[in-house]
Amino acid sequence: MKTLLQLNTSLFSEGGQSSRLAARFVADWRARNPRGEVIERDLARDPVPHLTAERFQSFLAPASERTPAQRAVVDYSDALIDEIRRADVIVIGLPMYNFGVPSTLKAYFDHIARVGVTFRYTEKGPQGLLTGKKVYVFATRGGSYAGTPGDTETAFVRQFLAFLGIDDVEFVYAEGLAISEASKAAALSRAEQTIERLVAPERLAA
Ligand SMILES: Cc1cc2nc3c(=O)[nH]c(=O)nc-3n(C[C@H](O)[C@H](O)[C@H](O)COP(=O)(O)O)c2cc1C
Repeated sequence: MKTLLQLNTSLFSEGGQSSRLAARFVADWRARNPRGEVIERDLARDPVPHLTAERFQSFLAPASERTPAQRAVVDYSDALIDEIRRADVIVIGLPMYNFGVPSTLKAYFDHIARVGVTFRYTEKGPQGLLTGKKVYVFATRGGSYAGTPGDTETAFVRQFLAFLGIDDVEFVYAEGLAISEASKAAALSRAEQTIERLVAPERLAA
């Protein structure tokens, strides 16, 4: 049985354009994986706190020496990590807000990057410990940046996930959503056509 983790990061939860594209993909995935499990995490509705010195210190403290408050922080991070570790497929709805990824996604990333848990340092450099996963990112933007230096999101998300061992990452873009109604309709329609190609049975064989 396969597991899919859907991370929505739009301010507008399931109403966001990125969440809608992600949901379209997930609906097709469910149809093709009827026994599969889908875990939904909405980072707008249920935001991960910002990382603070106290929270980071909780990660570093030896398990036997953690205070109850530190244990709660680690348990919360462990639960997020268990979720992503279980997932074979990860779907991220990724709007661009003020030239970068939603701050909620950064806070989530800050809680799943844990030395000795999701990555470790070796003599050959860092090694990611979350392997064997496929990620689909549905990136929506008011303007158009893909393939230009203005696209800060793609490189960042790829680099972060690769650091944890996840390097099979596919981006689907819907750009120019704020330019005009025609540009928005065309971009969303292109993205949906791409989703249809992605969910072709041979690509997602259970
Ligand atoms: C607070 C905010 C900031 C935004 N900043 C940008 C931006 O820097 N560049 C851009 O192209 N679009 C920007 N947009 C437009 C969004 O990227 C676009 O509306 C996208 O569809 C949002 O995805 P969502 O509907 O899933 O939330 C911004 C929208 C909001 C609400």
